[in-house]
Amino acid sequence: MNSLLGLILPLASPDLVNGPGGMPAQASTFAAEVDDMYWLINWICVFFFVLIMALMGYFMWKYRARSVGESAASTTDHNTPLELLWSIIPLAIVIYIFYYGFQGYLHIMIPPSDAYEIQVSGQKWSWSFQYPNGYIDKDLHAPADTNVRLVMTSQDVLHSFYIPAFRMKHDVVPGRFTKLWFNATAGDYQVFCAEYCGDEHSSMLARAVIQPRAEFDRWLEDAANVIDKLPPAEAGKLLFTQRGCTQCHSVDGVAGIGPSLKGIFGHQQPLADGSSVLVDENYIRSSILMPQSQVVAGFAPVMPTFQGRLKDKEIAVIAEYIKSLQ
Ligand code: CUA
Repeated sequence: MNSLLGLILPLASPDLVNGPGGMPAQASTFAAEVDDMYWLINWICVFFFVLIMALMGYFMWKYRARSVGESAASTTDHNTPLELLWSIIPLAIVIYIFYYGFQGYLHIMIPPSDAYEIQVSGQKWSWSFQYPNGYIDKDLHAPADTNVRLVMTSQDVLHSFYIPAFRMKHDVVPGRFTKLWFNATAGDYQVFCAEYCGDEHSSMLARAVIQPRAEFDRWLEDAANVIDKLPPAEAGKLLFTQRGCTQCHSVDGVAGIGPSLKGIFGHQQPLADGSSVLVDENYIRSSILMPQSQVVAGFAPVMPTFQGRLKDKEIAVIAEYIKSLQ
């Protein structure tokens, strides 16, 4: 069900269809360049398809057999000028496509040195974005009309970071860093994972929120300080959504990929190995840092570790939030 929604929901996102020719919005500096190349190749294909089909039809009619058993009028099997012509014209076309395609590729792959840097991490099945001040969010926020560089890596399997409106896609690989850059116009755009990465691949989504620089700076400062300003349970609730916990854990008692966290605090939880454990702050902490060590009965051991991605004080407020879900 979740996967089905993941397929349908993005189709409703207006930024995916409101560009020229029904394409996604052109929201980055190289979107128009990519589209021009796409349409050029598309129209070359249409032109030759129509030409070849028409000639084929015409020749079938022209050289049809007029009586049963009639032999061919000519046995010519070679025409040098014609063969040169149909070799040289396509060669010139593919060289042209390669030249401009490769220039566009270099433009997209080489980030400008002055770019604002954001760290991207992919993990089954959510994205996280870390800003220069250390703050982490599940959505990409970035300043508009500014060169932004993404340094990306995966915590588990292959993912692929994809923003159709930016005409930007690149594999996100465990154990190494891949890079992308963009310069985008203000707006709210859809982010996808474009590499099959497991059951919930299709719901591995995020938003790309592009704001004017001053607005972005204000957002980042507020977002980074909000944990300290809120009461612990509320801060925990905010982190719970921001870090993508909601992808797998509901708080309404309905189990998703992971168990629902409603009303578990202070109760015994049956585990997959047949034992049971009391849900307290320690159990929550160990479930976040070493999720495979005590898997709840009836669930697959698929939760990734948040070691190094959640600080102690953040784990503490998340525990306070889970405690409040009675
Ligand atoms: Cu991550 Cu598909």
